Amino acid sequence: MEIKKVALVTGGMGGLGTAICQRLQRAGFRVAATYSPHNSSPEGWLAAQRDEGYRFTAYKVDVGDFADSEWMVQKLLSEQGRLDVLVNNAGITRDRSLAKMQHDDWVEVMRTNLDSVFNLSKQAIEPMIAQGGGRIINISSVNGQKGAFGQTNYSAAKAAMHGFTKALALEMARHGVTVNTVSPGYLRTKMVTAVPEEVMTSRILPQIPVGRLGEPEEVAGLVAYLSSDEAAFVTGANIAINGGQHMS
Ligand SMILES: NC(=O)c1ccc[n+]([C@@H]2O[C@H](COP(=O)([O-])OP(=O)(O)OC[C@H]3O[C@@H](n4cnc5c(N)ncnc54)[C@H](OP(=O)(O)O)[C@@H]3O)[C@@H](O)[C@H]2O)c1
Repeated sequence: MEIKKVALVTGGMGGLGTAICQRLQRAGFRVAATYSPHNSSPEGWLAAQRDEGYRFTAYKVDVGDFADSEWMVQKLLSEQGRLDVLVNNAGITRDRSLAKMQHDDWVEVMRTNLDSVFNLSKQAIEPMIAQGGGRIINISSVNGQKGAFGQTNYSAAKAAMHGFTKALALEMARHGVTVNTVSPGYLRTKMVTAVPEEVMTSRILPQIPVGRLGEPEEVAGLVAYLSSDEAAFVTGANIAINGGQHMS
């Protein structure tokens, strides 16, 4: 009997996370989505997904908390039996210029976007090595590559993710575990569409040469490729997917 590989997507119930979960399930993975302690309706999301033909499992975790992350991955391993793909997708913004930024804005963004990558990857590598391979995909941002006004915290966390990716890629290469960063530009998710229309048309869209926001499904397609056997030679990469907004 063919073994179904297991993918874990943090922040799997968010805008991009949902698209990644759906795409990985269509690629043949059993998919587990995490949700945060602040999420008031994980059952509602699971039911809506079932209505669309998707069956996911869900795990509650604060990805910024090491012990909670450890507990959650152990629970997943005992229930699912294996872990093949980890997508570190959970993230938040707390935008303010540094002059106005509070210490809490810094700490919350660093723990959710960056500590989480350590917390989850640390749990994932042992089962992946034991299985003889795996995939870790870190969802960063164009703003980690080019900086953004009001985002010293977010830009620092997202840039640091790729330093982590490169170092871990070196450590994991001989075990068949690839580690890559995906750096999306502005996507059509709530994180972006919540901005006022005026800001969208005068400040965001003019920065994007293709003239539109990216679709979450476009990023999900890239994540599916990186999760596949075909992508075994891609490791330590930072793949931009930003409509031409920034080229490095
Ligand atoms: N949207 C964009 O334009 C864009 C561009 C570049 C990069 N990104 C990155 O893409 C990722 C997904 O963004 P998105 O647009 O899909 O945002 P989103 O809809 O707000 O999703 C973010 C997810 O992170 C989860 N999360 C937040 N804090 C958490 C915590 N402490 N523990 C566990 N989970 C937590 C949330 O879970 P709950 O819903 O369960 O609370 C939510 O599902 C983020 O890392 C973001 O930085 C987004």
